[in-house]
Amino acid sequence: MEKFVIHGGKPLNGDVVIGGAKNAAVAILPATILAADKCTIENLPCISDVMASLQILSELGASIRMISKSTYEIDTTHLNCTEVSNELSRQMRASYYFLGALLGRFGAGQVAMPGGCNLGPRPIDQHLKAFTAMGADDSVEYGMIRVRAEHLTGSHIFFDTVSVGATMNAMLAAVKAEGLTILENVAREPHVVDLANCLNMMGADVHGAGTDVIKIRGVKQLHGCSYSIIPDQIEAGSYMVGAAITGGDVTLHNVIPKHMEPITAKLRAAGCEVTEYDDAMRIVRHGAIHPVKIKTMPHPGFPTDMQPQMAVTLALANGTSMVTESIFENRFKYVDELTRMGAQVKVESNIAIITGVEKFTGARVSAPDLRAGAALVIAGLAAEGITIVDDIYYIERGYEHFEKKLA
Ligand code: EPZ
Repeated sequence: MEKFVIHGGKPLNGDVVIGGAKNAAVAILPATILAADKCTIENLPCISDVMASLQILSELGASIRMISKSTYEIDTTHLNCTEVSNELSRQMRASYYFLGALLGRFGAGQVAMPGGCNLGPRPIDQHLKAFTAMGADDSVEYGMIRVRAEHLTGSHIFFDTVSVGATMNAMLAAVKAEGLTILENVAREPHVVDLANCLNMMGADVHGAGTDVIKIRGVKQLHGCSYSIIPDQIEAGSYMVGAAITGGDVTLHNVIPKHMEPITAKLRAAGCEVTEYDDAMRIVRHGAIHPVKIKTMPHPGFPTDMQPQMAVTLALANGTSMVTESIFENRFKYVDELTRMGAQVKVESNIAIITGVEKFTGARVSAPDLRAGAALVIAGLAAEGITIVDDIYYIERGYEHFEKKLA
């Protein structure tokens, strides 16, 4: 199994260019199915989840042309299959977006039941609630989810829980459904807005993305487009935390400061100096790391995908912090690994009480999931001695050229 070997104790200094947003890319790539035309998607991150999405598209019959390392032309004119194979769709949880896109175009779609992952159970009841409200039938058997609809009709859907996946999947199914679809209690993340903007470039009629009500008027036909994906706020936040924990000075390029606001606010509270430019940000940390309270919430709250990285930094603060994980049931798996590096963290249900310590010492740890893996590498940057992080394939799912960018 591949691993990262980190020689800790050196502050991060310098410049880093942020790639396209993973959680936008994994929804926008399936969305090209709805165009039944040629789409050029730019600023795709070079990560395994993007490669898996492109592989599924070509398996379904799309023709893919690589224009550059981050730009692909995807022609779905002759796409003819509505079933994503088990092995491919099990590779990536976000393969559930192919259900909404295939249902929206063909009235039928099938993917493998998304594997649970290390954050706790990952139900998709809200996705299916949206599809059935628009007239689809769903069935789950032999580990596959099938959705079918003779005809999709717009509907007024109120989500029981705010879900990024269900919000985006419902949008994919609704853009060609007959009449008006109103989605309430939706996610407001930047990648939800990015998908809506991309669908509208294809000729869809989506309004309100980024607020808690999205209105979609079905259109008969969509067409191809050229679209550039927004920068990844979580990748950017992870490098900001790297500068914070090592007492460094880092400038991030190709970011949207507005998307970073919840993260910037907490890093400033923790004692960092953050300067915002049009499409760049500079973060410096000189003095001590101050303890802060964090509660993860749907956007514009503090993002759950930044919780491990922030918690790791607070483990070196000069005081006690409290981190509440309100989105996932089990997103503190990395704490056991972090304690082996000298951290003092007590987890009670979904709250972590973090007593700051002087320093971490290097240890051999393993990445329990994507963001926790990045957090352990970040801990290694600040640790005395050598840290080895195993199972780094998790990290490569969401961070392009992670070691190169850190170097
Ligand atoms: C997306 O997952 C992201 N993944 C996650 O990022 C991110 O942590 C999460 O949104 C929250 O921001 C992708 O976009 C591919 P949810 P998703 O549906 O859509 C419950 C990363 O590191 N729920 O917003 O699966 C669910 O159990 C990954 O990039 C239901 O109950 O998250 C969770 O407790 C990790 N029923 C809460 O809602 C449903 O039908 C939020 O989940 C759907 C979700």
